[in-house]
Parts: sequence; C-alpha cells; structure tokens
Amino acid sequence: MQNFTFQNSTKIIFGRGVEEQTGEEVDKLGDKILFHYGGGSIKEYGIYDKVMDSLKEEGLEVVELGGVQPNPRLDLVKEGIDVCRQEDVDFILAVGGGSVIDSAKAISIGVPYEGDVWDFYSEEKQIQESLPLGVVLTIPAAGSESSPGSVITKEEGGYKRDAVSEELRPEFAILNPEFTFTLPEFQTASGAADIMAHVMERYFTHEPEVGFTDRLCEATLRTIIKNAPIALEEPENYGARAQLTWASTVAHNDLLGTGREEDWASHNIEHELSGKYDITHGAGLAIIFPAWMKYVHGEDPKKFAQFTSRVWNEETNFDSLERTAKEGIEKLETFFERIGLPTRLDDLEVEVTEADLVEMADKCTDRGPVGNFVKLDKEDVLAIYRLAN
Ligand code: NZQ
Ligand code: ZN
Repeated sequence: MQNFTFQNSTKIIFGRGVEEQTGEEVDKLGDKILFHYGGGSIKEYGIYDKVMDSLKEEGLEVVELGGVQPNPRLDLVKEGIDVCRQEDVDFILAVGGGSVIDSAKAISIGVPYEGDVWDFYSEEKQIQESLPLGVVLTIPAAGSESSPGSVITKEEGGYKRDAVSEELRPEFAILNPEFTFTLPEFQTASGAADIMAHVMERYFTHEPEVGFTDRLCEATLRTIIKNAPIALEEPENYGARAQLTWASTVAHNDLLGTGREEDWASHNIEHELSGKYDITHGAGLAIIFPAWMKYVHGEDPKKFAQFTSRVWNEETNFDSLERTAKEGIEKLETFFERIGLPTRLDDLEVEVTEADLVEMADKCTDRGPVGNFVKLDKEDVLAIYRLAN
C-alpha cells in the first residue's frame, strides 16, 4: 500500500428534511448568496421553495442564476462570475446535480481570479483561491458534492476538461434521498453507472496489499447493483434511494482510492464523447468502461477474476482466469443493459464515424497518455473506441 494523505473536509448532512438546515449552514459562511441551479426540475418538484424558505429564515440575501445544462458550459460560468462580482456575492449554493455543482465550483474559482477561468481547465494555471461553496444534491451520480473536481465544457472546439484542487471541495453537502424520487429512469441508471465507474477507476490498480479498500470498493459496487434496479422499479423506495445517495458520495470522496494508484482512463475517454456529442456522462461510461476492460484485462487477469467472483458472485475458473475475467466484463455489460443504458456507440442517437473516433482519440491524448492500469496512447484509445462500436 502506498503512503497517502486523506482529508475530506466536506460536512455531510444526510436524511429526510435536512434541507431545512441549509440556511443555518450558509449563514455560518456567507451573507450574500449566489443560488445556482439547472433547467427547472428543482422548481417543478418543490426543492427550490424548500431551500429558498430556509435561506430566507436566516435573513440571507440571495441572487439567483439558473439554466445550468447537463455537461455545464463555460459561457454560463462566465456569466455567473460577472454576477458574483457585480453583486458582491460571498458564498455560492449549488442546488442540483453534478452539472450545477461543477458550474458553481467554476464560478467559485473564477471570481477571485483576474484571468480567464478556463486557464484552470486547460492546466495553464493552478487554483489558488475560491469563494466558499455549499451543495443541496438532487441526483446521486457524479459525487461532485464532496469531490475536489469540476468538469466544464467549452463549446468552442467541443472541449470537456476538468480542474482539480482541494479548494473545490464543498464546505457542506445536504443530501435528502427523497429529492431523488423524481429522477427520470435514464438519469437514475446513468447515475448508477457513473458511481460504479468511480469505484472501478480506483479498483483496477496494480498496487498490492490494498485488500481493505478492495473490499470497500466491492461493497460499494454490490450496493449499486442491488439498489439501482429497486429504485427503477419503485422510484419512491427511500431505502434504495438512500443507499444510492450515500454510495455515490463515498464512491468519489477519495476514501476508496487511498493507498493506491488510480486509473481514470475511461473517464478521459468518455469526456471526449460527452464533450463532442453532449450525451449523458454516465451513459457514455456504460459504453466505454466495458470496452476499456476488454482492452486491458490481459494486463492482470487475476484482478479481473477477483472482480468477477466478489462483485458478481461467479465461480472462479482456476484453469482460466482469463475466462473468469471475461465473465465479469459480460456481467457488467448485461447489468448496464438491464437498467436501460446503451453499451455501444451504435446505441446512441448520434452518428459516430471512424473519422470522429480518430479525432476523439487524438484530443483525448493531446496532453499525453491516459490511464495508469495501462498507459494508453492515441492508438490504444482509438482501439477502445472501436471496441465500443
Ligand atoms: O437541469 P435540471 O432541470 O435540474 O434536470 C437535471 C438534468 O437534466 C435532472 N435532474 C437532476 N436532479 C433531478 C433531476 N430531474 C428530476 N428530479 C431530480 N431530483 O437530471 C439531469 C442531469 O443532471 P446532471 O447534474 O447533469 O447529472 P449528474 O449529477 O450526473 O452530473 C453530470 C456531470 O458531472 C460531471 C459529468 O462529466 C457531467 O458533466 N462529473 C463531475 C465530477 C466531479 N465534479 O467530481 C465527476 C464525474 O466523473 C463527472 O465527470
Ligand atoms: Zn464520472
């Protein structure tokens, strides 16, 4: 196991009715708030009113900026930065999913920075400071509510890039699983795939002696495999929604990656897809992750066989770990199909040509090879896109 430092400073407030504590939490950190949200689901389902009431009870001044789109755009981030500067905002509250949170994070680092906020995403500048930020979560998926990352899309050129810094971890996250009852099936399923991907990006490592965190990863994956179908069947099943919600935060709060080298190739390869075609990130991962596994499992069939036996309860074929490894990959693909996700580029409603694959492979590796389990160059990434076709 490698040396590590683990400090996740985000305060988690979890359960029914906890949104009533939003005003109290914000009041400790700011006076004038930017209330940032998405395309309207929070108004439709009453979350907006509940959170706004709590802020008003504390007498907080609120400026609003809605309209965050899935795969959040740089243009709205810039608008948010201008609003915060004009209005002297000192705290940002993101009410929504990963897209709203990531947009809020980008605004929070853009306000104190004189240059173009994209500098942090193009890796030209390191993040130094930010406005404090809190979250009211409405979908278990991205894990951004306690992660140090933000992913933003620059439409010009179709770039989807991330910025990472401890500065980006929210101060608090309010998680009421009831807020997720209204999720469309496709978003529930895509969220489940994203959570699983966050675990698997950490699980597949060559690091020895990480049995403890391997077991945590396996438990998290099994929790999703059990509860996602229940939530799809019974959208208002609190127990299933609660487990998905907590698992999604833990999957990406860095605990599961402690002591090991993480991979992240599949996320980089997927970000090209959602950057170019504006598809849902989790659905993109349901296509890319199995393809990545097919391409790299030969590197350590034993680890993949462990995945098959412990996550999917399949017997290990000791004469052919390779065969056992492949069974686990098939199980994963079948699970994604069962919960209604695409598993091939062909399943998408967009046309992806061979020239598109080459362009995406090129962009994906323009800063060097991706991944750690196997370092992938442009030809490798292209081969994975082809396997996903
Ligand atoms: O915009 P509204 O109207 O709110 O609708 C949203 C949106 O259409 C809807 N929704 C959210 N909560 C709802 C709801 N509909 C009904 N009831 C509710 N309770 O769901 C749609 C998707 O929302 P979005 O925020 O895009 O989902 P998600 O949380 O999956 O976030 C995806 C984004 O996060 C990034 C992804 O790349 C993608 O851009 N990621 C961020 C990470 C991070 N910052 O650490 C890590 C992840 O790997 C990921 O890359
Ligand atoms: Zn993800």
